Amino acid sequence: MWTPSTLVILLIGIATARATSSNNTISNSKLLTWWHDSGEITQSPVQPASVRQSHLYSIQVANSVDQIYYDSFIYETIPRNGQGNILVPNDPTSKTTANDGITIEETIGMTMSWTSFLYSADAWVKVHRLDGFSIESNSFVIRPTNLNFTTSTANGDLFILVPYDQGSGTKFSVEFNDNLYEFHDGCSDPSCSYVQDSTADGPYYVDEMDENSMPLMAVEPLDSLLIFASPFEDASLVPDETSENVLVVDEGRITGLNTTEANTIIFKAGVYYATATDYLNLSATVDWLYFAPGAYVKGAVEFHTASSLIKTTGHGVLSGEQYVYQADPTYGFQNHNVNGSPLRMWKGTVPNGQQTTWIVDGPTLNSPPFNSMDWYGDISAFSVMCTDYKQVGAFFGQTDGMQAYPGSVYQDIFYHTNDDTIKIYYSNVTVSDVTVQKATTAPVIQFGWASRNLSNIQVDNINIIHSRWNSNGSNPGLIGSNNVYDPSTASTSATNTSTANTYSSASNIVFANIRAEGISGPLMRIYALENLSNITISNVWIEEFGSCGGYENIGISESFMPAMDDGNGNNVTVDNFVISNFIVGDEKVSLDTASTTGQLYWNPAFDVTIQ
Ligand SMILES: *[C@@H]1O[C@H](CO)[C@@H](O)[C@H](O)[C@H]1NC(C)=O
Ligand SMILES: *[C@@H]1O[C@H](CO)[C@@H](O)[C@H](O)[C@H]1NC(C)=O
Ligand SMILES: *[C@@H]1O[C@H](CO)[C@@H](O)[C@H](O)[C@H]1NC(C)=O
Ligand SMILES: *[C@@H]1O[C@H](CO)[C@@H](O)[C@H](O)[C@H]1NC(C)=O
Ligand SMILES: *[C@@H]1O[C@H](CO)[C@@H](O)[C@H](O)[C@H]1NC(C)=O
Ligand SMILES: *[C@@H]1O[C@H](CO)[C@@H](O)[C@H](O)[C@H]1NC(C)=O
Ligand SMILES: *[C@@H]1O[C@H](CO)[C@@H](O)[C@H](O)[C@H]1NC(C)=O
Ligand SMILES: *[C@@H]1O[C@H](CO)[C@@H](O)[C@H](O)[C@H]1NC(C)=O
Ligand SMILES: *[C@@H]1O[C@H](CO)[C@@H](O)[C@H](O)[C@H]1NC(C)=O
Ligand SMILES: *[C@@H]1O[C@H](CO)[C@@H](O)[C@H](O)[C@H]1NC(C)=O
Ligand SMILES: *[C@@H]1O[C@H](CO)[C@@H](O)[C@H](O)[C@H]1NC(C)=O
Repeated sequence: MWTPSTLVILLIGIATARATSSNNTISNSKLLTWWHDSGEITQSPVQPASVRQSHLYSIQVANSVDQIYYDSFIYETIPRNGQGNILVPNDPTSKTTANDGITIEETIGMTMSWTSFLYSADAWVKVHRLDGFSIESNSFVIRPTNLNFTTSTANGDLFILVPYDQGSGTKFSVEFNDNLYEFHDGCSDPSCSYVQDSTADGPYYVDEMDENSMPLMAVEPLDSLLIFASPFEDASLVPDETSENVLVVDEGRITGLNTTEANTIIFKAGVYYATATDYLNLSATVDWLYFAPGAYVKGAVEFHTASSLIKTTGHGVLSGEQYVYQADPTYGFQNHNVNGSPLRMWKGTVPNGQQTTWIVDGPTLNSPPFNSMDWYGDISAFSVMCTDYKQVGAFFGQTDGMQAYPGSVYQDIFYHTNDDTIKIYYSNVTVSDVTVQKATTAPVIQFGWASRNLSNIQVDNINIIHSRWNSNGSNPGLIGSNNVYDPSTASTSATNTSTANTYSSASNIVFANIRAEGISGPLMRIYALENLSNITISNVWIEEFGSCGGYENIGISESFMPAMDDGNGNNVTVDNFVISNFIVGDEKVSLDTASTTGQLYWNPAFDVTIQ
């Protein structure tokens, strides 16, 4: 007889009977999950038409009413995508020791797994460990820690209640205490980098981690697990595949996108690849690119449209995993250690004087081989409206976040980055609700490298779940304005205080509600390359600067804002620079404790208020 309790038993039976490697997905009005039959669990490069699958986690999702669990595919990215540090596409013999931003990450076997699903009602996410580890209530943490999700454990699995908030999803990291890696530096001197004691014939090996002389720089999951729950796609952001001028791409090797006369290109669920020596060099007619949920597209995108409205929508993945680091299309897609010509994952050119908007909603960008996005042409007339965007697997160096051109709005973003992350180089920009996991290089928020005229910028609600820097020279900090970028004089420009332009100014900028979990770098390192006025930094929490004595000697927790001038006797002025409600640990920083608790140092001639 059907009673509520037999139903429960039956449902539990169904839930537990599902093999974790199955492809039992769901598509109804409450939940959409997807699967790839081509999942490969390997540390080698995967087949072109395959995707890398998590070696450690499996996930099932249920809507909280029906309580039936369905599989949600977990992707995985590994440093260098299993190719090693190679210079020539697909050529394992081209291995090099040249710097690609990865030091020990490949050697220690770091990975990043992630899954995405769409939902319209509260959902339960069930996390299972494939290594047999039995998850107990005290063996995990969910970051950002202020999400306060309801969780439970049963039969060694973790259940997380993911609330549905109308219109906005949620992005979080599930971390296990048995799976944390402690990054130590080789010495307490700013010149040292991370060391590892696990692989004797690997790079940066030490026999023994000496806690006294090898400071702890960061603690990060060895195998990250990120979960992206998004609302269903708005109908206006989903192209009708039956309408005219639509190209539905065939699965497998991508061809013909440079010659199509279609306006809209649709990648349905499936795996697509451009190879390591080609990319999505879109014909001039294409102004809408749609990556359906479950689409996994290996390539990089360049628009050539002159349209004033460009769209990139859908919850699929664009992955740079086939490319070598800094792959340069003008150089046979080989590694090319320059800044201008290497492939960007997103690129386009704005016609002169034409106000152009690029709408980005939904996609996940994986494994960028360099700066993730740059546009050219009349960028003063270019705005980006970006929502529900994710960047993962950014193990390589110089894997920045997106550019916020004038008037841009970024909201609801996850960034795994290894360089400047929230880039505010233009005016009238809002960036909010960003979760950041930050690797070795550059500040989280960057507005320097050149003198700029900036005003009207809000950066709000930034949760930094991990950040690490390996040295004082890796530009640590939550907020940074680095000195002029001049590769030819990089060694001298970093500390040259005569590089400013006092005819320029940055004003009316608010950095608010910033949380940095775990060990953090300094609040700010600002080489003011222009006058600053009305800059407010408010409600910042840094959990800790690190407790090891050696770590403090490295000096990477110190905030600086030194005197700057233009080399012609004109000094930069800083007016009404306010730091309000800055908390380190559980101590609010006051003027009296600015240099101790806050580790804050600035040119005393500047008008700085701590309140
Ligand atoms: C599950 O996998 C089988 C075999 O690979 C395939 O035929 C089937 O369509 C898949 N089902 C779903 C729901 O993806
Ligand atoms: C989580 O709990 C903390 C402490 O009770 C509270 O300050 C915070 O606002 C909560 N976060 C959310 C998203 O409710
Ligand atoms: C389009 O791209 C392919 C490579 O995918 C190339 O062989 C072909 O020459 C290109 N066609 C044009 C018209 O540029
Ligand atoms: C990409 O397309 C543009 C415009 O058709 C063309 O000029 C350029 O050469 C193409 N790039 C490559 C690397 O093929
Ligand atoms: C910013 O917005 C103001 C007011 O709308 C406008 O005057 C100014 O030109 C904008 N600046 C930029 C760089 O777009
Ligand atoms: C510092 O920068 C100024 C202005 O660019 C330049 O004139 C000067 O030579 C630089 N000094 C050093 C030591 O590089
Ligand atoms: C910058 O400050 C200097 C010194 O006060 C002043 O002479 C100059 O006009 C200011 N520049 C701008 C753009 O406000
Ligand atoms: C900023 O604007 C001022 C006034 O228009 C101009 O003199 C200066 O060159 C600008 N700075 C930059 C870096 O473009
Ligand atoms: C700074 O704020 C004050 C007070 O709101 C305002 O009068 C002033 O114009 C602002 N400065 C700039 C450069 O916008
Ligand atoms: C860290 O670098 C800054 C320059 O960016 C320098 O002023 C400071 O002295 C350095 N600290 C140490 C401990 O080397
Ligand atoms: C510029 O600042 C320096 C100290 O950094 C000071 O000695 C000098 O007098 C200032 N110059 C002007 C014109 O205010």
